[in-house]
Amino acid sequence: MAQQINPSILSADFARLADEAKAVEGADWLHVDVMDNHFVPNLTLGVPVVESLGKATETPLDCHLMIEDPDRWAPQYIEAGAGSVTFHVEAAAAPVRLAREIRAKGARASMALKPATPIEPYEDLLPELDMLLVMTVEPGFGGQAFLDIMLPKIRRTRQLIEKHGLEMWLQVDGGVSAETIERCAEAGADVFVAGSAVYGADDPAKAVRALRHLAEK
Ligand code: DX5
Ligand code: ZN
Repeated sequence: MAQQINPSILSADFARLADEAKAVEGADWLHVDVMDNHFVPNLTLGVPVVESLGKATETPLDCHLMIEDPDRWAPQYIEAGAGSVTFHVEAAAAPVRLAREIRAKGARASMALKPATPIEPYEDLLPELDMLLVMTVEPGFGGQAFLDIMLPKIRRTRQLIEKHGLEMWLQVDGGVSAETIERCAEAGADVFVAGSAVYGADDPAKAVRALRHLAEK
């Protein structure tokens, strides 16, 4: 699988979501940050907006749930049209059961780790997942500086994926830009979320192509 670039709609103009989604067609997935003011100190959007976004673009939706009780809410995002659902392990009551439910409902199951959450305790869960997300900022806001200290965790996660011979993807999210994407790729990431680096550019589609080029170097 080639390197994938997922623009984050969080950095777009929320009053023009359909146009902003169309502006990055050609990207692999549209990253949709769902925040609930409890798991993170910010509030974004929920199921009805995901449903409308899904109708507004051909790009599949990669829903990143930064919410409490994802066990309860994740299924609704699949019904709303998400092709991939990421829950935070820090918030999930039963991550294996949740991952199995997401897959059974026909979406890709993904689990996210905040910067202070290690991968090692979850090694045995990896076969239950289609993607692992290593956060490279504290979740909650776009436009934060990339945390270089997460590079070793990306490397260790890639080693564990290889050790188990898994096909799963390794996503990075937070501060990914033309300055940092090569370091992430070199460490073993293959799915790159970029918010401000895409929507802060004059031509978002061009920014996606430039990031893809750097990731594939
Ligand atoms: C942060 C979100 C990210 C955010 C990334 O909590 O999960 O997806 O949009 O934005 P940038 O790329 O600007 O760091
Ligand atoms: Zn995100």
